[in-house]
Amino acid sequence: VSVQEVVEAAAQTPVGLISVLGCTGTVGSAVMRLLATRECAVRGVLRRPHRVLPVARTDERAHIRYAIADHRSTDELSRAFEGSDVLLLSTGTGPDQGNIESRAIRAAQRAGVRRIVKISAPLVEPPAAVEAARSHRAVEAVLEASGLEHCSLRPTAFMQNWLRNAAPIAHTGTVYGSCADARRNHVDARDVASVAVALLLSRSPLPATALSVTGPELLSHTEMSERLSSVTGFRIRHRNLSGDEHHRLLRSAARLPEWLARHIVELDACALLTPDTDTTSGRALLGRYPRTMDEFLEEHRAAFLPAPAWARWSRARTQRARL
Ligand SMILES: NC(=O)c1ccc[n+]([C@@H]2O[C@H](COP(=O)([O-])OP(=O)(O)OC[C@H]3O[C@@H](n4cnc5c(N)ncnc54)[C@H](OP(=O)(O)O)[C@@H]3O)[C@@H](O)[C@H]2O)c1
Repeated sequence: VSVQEVVEAAAQTPVGLISVLGCTGTVGSAVMRLLATRECAVRGVLRRPHRVLPVARTDERAHIRYAIADHRSTDELSRAFEGSDVLLLSTGTGPDQGNIESRAIRAAQRAGVRRIVKISAPLVEPPAAVEAARSHRAVEAVLEASGLEHCSLRPTAFMQNWLRNAAPIAHTGTVYGSCADARRNHVDARDVASVAVALLLSRSPLPATALSVTGPELLSHTEMSERLSSVTGFRIRHRNLSGDEHHRLLRSAARLPEWLARHIVELDACALLTPDTDTTSGRALLGRYPRTMDEFLEEHRAAFLPAPAWARWSRARTQRARL
């Protein structure tokens, strides 16, 4: 069965209960919103009871329900998955992700889940090395050994990551990075969610191989700063740093935890060592053109607009330059 056939065969016919682990995340919440419009029963699995829900519980949406489970407990996860036919694994990147997802696979086996779709990450070839990618490969291996029907999606970087950079860009007018002018592919997480939903709902067997999910173009940081300048109307520049400088900036100015600062610097080094080239896999899976970076930036324009003081200073500087 080809990938295209599977996606096309994602018919409206209802499947059994679908559980979503990571239902409040970027991909997970987009999956929940899409499933809310389809004829299927869905259970979002939360780790915190007071979390804002991706889809509100209402009488009209009786097919959307939530369960709470301590993700450190196989028993609690297994109880949360009880009665589920299909499971989406989409927990956040982090030092414990491999353990959480491996535990969830064991819990799913115990609960009698038949099919698992995992949001994974791209293959990283030596000499590049990304710790989070190693952890995804380890979970993929657990999935493979589980004997359950499964498929892993390997999306490139999410366009939504740029929202994490929005405040620094708005405050400093600068895109900082350590990947020089390496061009990277970004995919909108909502397109990743669309592919995941097609697989979750599909009546056909899942493709036997992991699937790359890409956005439609390759962009360097300099090109991104030009796009951001164009969408905001303010000059945004790109400043390239060494890996160590970048790491220090992420730790000191952005106050990111050590693992996340290291992860971002590893990804930039990876972009330099093994640049992205694929711009077609997302389109083939979606059967339509994926969302573009321009569309994404236009939609989120307000987030990148300069803070008022910087805006005044930048406008004055632009006017002075014109005189
Ligand atoms: N970002 C990218 O560019 C990118 C690219 C390729 C692949 N991926 C992969 O795509 C997957 C989904 O990413 P995402 O951006 O949708 O994730 P996300 O927004 O960070 O969402 C994480 C979800 O996992 C839950 N979670 C449970 N335990 C967690 C823990 N210990 N640490 C962090 N989150 C935990 C979160 O719950 P709470 O809401 O309670 O925190 C949330 O629902 C991840 O596996 C990631 O590695 C990401």
